Amino acid sequence: MKSQYFQIAADGVDPKKVPQRTLFTGAKIPGVGLGTFGSDHYDARDIANAVKDAISVGYRHIDCASVYGNEHLIGESLHEAMRCGIKREELFITSKLWNNMHGNGDVLLSCAKTLKDLKLEYLDLYLVHWPFPNYHAAGVGVDSRDPNAVAYIHDNYMKTWRQMERLVDAGLVRHIGTSNMTIAKLELVLRDVRIHPAANEMELHPHFQQDALFRYCLDNNIVPIGYCPVGSPKRPARDRTQNDTVDTEDPVIVSIADRLGVHPAIVCIKWAVQRGQIPIPFSTNKNHILSNLLCSTIDPLTHEEMKAIEGIDRNCRLIKGQVFLWEGAKDWTDLWDINGVIEEN
Ligand SMILES: NC(=O)c1ccc[n+]([C@@H]2O[C@H](COP(=O)([O-])OP(=O)(O)OC[C@H]3O[C@@H](n4cnc5c(N)ncnc54)[C@H](OP(=O)(O)O)[C@@H]3O)[C@@H](O)[C@H]2O)c1
Repeated sequence: MKSQYFQIAADGVDPKKVPQRTLFTGAKIPGVGLGTFGSDHYDARDIANAVKDAISVGYRHIDCASVYGNEHLIGESLHEAMRCGIKREELFITSKLWNNMHGNGDVLLSCAKTLKDLKLEYLDLYLVHWPFPNYHAAGVGVDSRDPNAVAYIHDNYMKTWRQMERLVDAGLVRHIGTSNMTIAKLELVLRDVRIHPAANEMELHPHFQQDALFRYCLDNNIVPIGYCPVGSPKRPARDRTQNDTVDTEDPVIVSIADRLGVHPAIVCIKWAVQRGQIPIPFSTNKNHILSNLLCSTIDPLTHEEMKAIEGIDRNCRLIKGQVFLWEGAKDWTDLWDINGVIEEN
């Protein structure tokens, strides 16, 4: 039965024309996805509608997480799209294990809840959202701290990872992956895994290129998925500091946007796709949703433009993660092993 609420858009993009990346299993993942984190102020229903709009214009990759609080509504959108002819195997659906569900037995429970909410029988990719079990309530301020917060403990991470591996064994999840990791932590994880991480989700935009970690992922057959690809202009207050820079106002980005007659956000997405990461831009605006996908299929940036963007990295991390700090931690840099050594409690 055709739905009046879901139809393939006449002006959409042919999903076959969107660049694809290959995971270590040989499975394909679309080279652009839709983000679904509403930054604490977008309405969950609007985000679920954005998922429908995205699929209707050709997106086949949706980036979800239980902590975004909207999987039950996104599930309705996915269900409707599939009822109207989109096949499950055409979609690539990611979700993430939240920090308060790392404990023994919790991973299966969390995955089962996500599958129920998304109305799916399996996920294509399930990520450990953060490498710490540190909890924060939705919408808390930047100074909020979990009194039980701890630094990275590799043995505990591996206990969580073993549970992730069992989800693959059980057929509930096709791939597992990491998020918000560092090279130091990934070195240990790669040493100890039975099932390889297929992807690492990490902050990536022109002012925060994380070149060493990006290369490390590629060298180790881990697909880099880039969050905040346009610099997350509406991110929550807890993720803003005075020194943050704005990618879409950078003169290099703006001048390329002028040449192409597009919004600077589009230049950031093109750069991401051409560099080799998978951007997952968020939007609830139908025109933005379409143009963010279409731009991966037309008018590539020139070699000189790619080089010019390579030169504007400001090492400006936007999602610093202060709310995950443990007692005694110096500051947010402790979360990111800046000197190549894992910080301990
Ligand atoms: N793994 C993690 O820990 C983690 C952390 C953060 C984010 N993420 C994921 O990454 C996704 C993306 O990150 P994000 O949402 O923070 O940042 P983002 O995608 O860089 O920025 C989203 C913002 O950019 C605007 N925008 C998007 N396309 C545009 C266009 N073509 N023209 C003008 N404005 C445009 C959107 O506004 P409009 O709605 O007005 O278009 C929205 O406010 C999230 O939704 C989430 O799925 C993961």
